[in-house]
Amino acid sequence: MPIIKIEDISHVRFAAPDLAKMQAFLEDFGFSCSAQYGRLYGLARDGRPFAHVTEPGEPAFKALGLRAESLADLEKLAAAEGVAVEPLDDPGAGQVVRLTDPDGFLVEIVAGQQVSAARPDCLDVPHNNATARPRLRGTVRLAQGPSHIQRIGHCVLNVSDFRTSEKWYKDRFGFLTSDEIEMAPGTSIGAFLRCDRGDQPTDHHTVFLAQLPQPTCFLHAAFEVAHLDDLMLGHAHLKSKGRDQAWGVGRHIMGSQVFDYWRDPWGHELEHWTDGDLFTADDPPNKMSFTSLISVQWGTPHPMLAGQPAAE
Ligand SMILES: [Fe+2]
Repeated sequence: MPIIKIEDISHVRFAAPDLAKMQAFLEDFGFSCSAQYGRLYGLARDGRPFAHVTEPGEPAFKALGLRAESLADLEKLAAAEGVAVEPLDDPGAGQVVRLTDPDGFLVEIVAGQQVSAARPDCLDVPHNNATARPRLRGTVRLAQGPSHIQRIGHCVLNVSDFRTSEKWYKDRFGFLTSDEIEMAPGTSIGAFLRCDRGDQPTDHHTVFLAQLPQPTCFLHAAFEVAHLDDLMLGHAHLKSKGRDQAWGVGRHIMGSQVFDYWRDPWGHELEHWTDGDLFTADDPPNKMSFTSLISVQWGTPHPMLAGQPAAE
């Protein structure tokens, strides 16, 4: 049994030397921003106090934030790890347990944060297709601008030993495997892990641990946008602002989501996504090939397959 079963991812934390420059990027990406405690906070629309944090400093990924279900769970985790539960010195207060994973990544497990009312839904229009025509005598007229970020969804880390990291994260946080990636039969190099919320459907992946032939590093963090039109409008907006595109738009195989990857001014990759798979604890793990990891169902080929550093 894991020590606790985490509820969801809560945030990602970075350092950057120019918070104003980061704020301009985050606003183009679709966050609302707030400067407090000498840091910059990116807010999604879910009422949570923040999803993206930047502190002043040399450019770096600083921490992955996960949310425990309760303060009692945080106490249980702290006791098992022999560490303290500390006050969280960020907007929304709450408490935090700080752990270091096998590769030295800081993991901040939070609970008890204040939650505000979510901002109004950014509704999709009814879509007509060949068999269903729900939009009758109505038009599609979309407002140009950044995507609407609903929430943080997942984080991807490159680790030095997949099995060691997988055990560490599963033992503490109760993650379940959705898809494991094999380079060859019996040789796994990573897995998409989701939260165990029993019968409650959760995202196909909350953390993806990959053991790629490169130094351990942050690979990307992903944020859910309102819907497909919202993602495409955000793509056009980021492009119009001359932002650094990494990969997209396309539809992934594992997770099925429509994706669009961009880089912040210091090269950290952030993903917009919509229309991802939702599984319960009853859904069994699958084995998938590395090719399926970097292939798309439609859209821009992975830069590795396209043979170029950035694809349009
Ligand atoms: Fe992703």
